Amino acid sequence: MTVAVAVALVAGCGVPVSVSSVTAPDDFDTPVPVPPLAPSEVAADGTRTFRLTAQEGTTRFLDGIETPTWGFDGDLLGPTLRASRGEQVAVEVRNELPEPTSVHWHGMHLPAAMDGGPHQPVDPGEVWRPTWRVDQPAATLWYHPHPHGRTEEHVYRGLAGFFLLDDPAAPDVGLPHAYGVDDVPVVVQDRNLDDDGTLDLDGGEVGVLGSLVTANGVHGGHLTVTTERVRLRLLNGSTGRTYAFGFTDDRTFLQVASDGGLLPSPVEATRVRLSPGERAEIVVTMTPGETVRLRSFRPDLGRVAAGFAMGANDEFDVLELRAADALAASPEVADVLTTLEPLREADADVTRTFSVAGREINGRRMDMSRIDETVEVGATEIWEVRNDDAVPHNLHVHDVQLRVLDIDGGAPPAALGGPKDTVYLEPRRTYRLIMRFEDYTDPAVPYMVHCHLLLHEDEGLMAQFVVVEPGAEVRSSTREKSAH
Ligand code: C2O
Ligand code: CU
Repeated sequence: MTVAVAVALVAGCGVPVSVSSVTAPDDFDTPVPVPPLAPSEVAADGTRTFRLTAQEGTTRFLDGIETPTWGFDGDLLGPTLRASRGEQVAVEVRNELPEPTSVHWHGMHLPAAMDGGPHQPVDPGEVWRPTWRVDQPAATLWYHPHPHGRTEEHVYRGLAGFFLLDDPAAPDVGLPHAYGVDDVPVVVQDRNLDDDGTLDLDGGEVGVLGSLVTANGVHGGHLTVTTERVRLRLLNGSTGRTYAFGFTDDRTFLQVASDGGLLPSPVEATRVRLSPGERAEIVVTMTPGETVRLRSFRPDLGRVAAGFAMGANDEFDVLELRAADALAASPEVADVLTTLEPLREADADVTRTFSVAGREINGRRMDMSRIDETVEVGATEIWEVRNDDAVPHNLHVHDVQLRVLDIDGGAPPAALGGPKDTVYLEPRRTYRLIMRFEDYTDPAVPYMVHCHLLLHEDEGLMAQFVVVEPGAEVRSSTREKSAH
């Protein structure tokens, strides 16, 4: 049995910094569980209703140690919700925790009042009933709490699950799609345990960097592969850690989707960097009988401050893929996966600028009573976002799937060429993001834009925007009409 060890180091300036070293599992013999598909009922009017209960439980991350955790409908994490484009969905969210929470549908395009952010708290013993029509491409989305100032802790305790969207009208492009067989969602998270097995919530600049890295809640697990190709839907469900996933033999894989759905074409890659909240779907080709591990390599974080690292060692294995001796044939992945609707710079109506630094956006901390930006429905906007710090941040925009136009004026890498809702911001770089606010207006209920390093979000690195009918009064410090 291995117990997480926290090593106290002394930084150059004499300030003690707690840096944990990731604990290597003794073996990879535990099967990685596939999150169950959440049951749902379809009413006569076609509405598909799910039920989710946030509750307390315990999890055995390490042999013989019971850790108190929180989960949806269980001890840790939650079931996978799955719905199709065009469907009306509804969720009954019940809170059986001892404190208020909320459930946010990360990546979903939906009315602000259904979004599950800090303005839609669910009190203990209460039920919240959001409903909306799914109207976006197939994608790997997820859900997690978003209570004001408490998001990091609620996610860290274990509240998170997948929300998969399908598009029945999309052509078959050869992607593995048998849930739990050759199409497996994998949420990677890190935690620290105290000596008594309870979760340690103390963190540093980016929040907790945990020594215990899990895949679907399991430390040292494996997936048995029975097909020639397997699709992993990777979610960074950590609160602060950024990963650079690849394989122990450095094999090439195909990245086929990013946060909000398919890339135009598969991208051949050996690494995929995911900051908290980001997703990537990858297709890995296996040979019969082989074993290979999904590893997180030292992430290239950009121009971070000297000495900044994602922990004392930042290379570790997350899970093992074990191929059966005979593998069922898989189709070839097509060269063209989808045609993205163009979002062109020339079509932008508005440009806004955002400086991200410390715990502030444009020099201001989150204030639930202040609307920071007012967007006119139908507008195409460019958001020019700069990380003005020497430490990692990222930016998550609710309601939309955006596209990265350029980074410091240069074209983004192909892996950032698809629909995104969360973008890692390398220090001292400027990202121009383009997005369209198609529908859903509500001058009274804001959407959030924030850093998804959840400590940063909780401490104020978040702003609020509303989407309104054209002509509604607009007051905003960062808005400029584009001159085109
Ligand atoms: Cu995944 Cu505003 O959050
Ligand atoms: Cu941040």
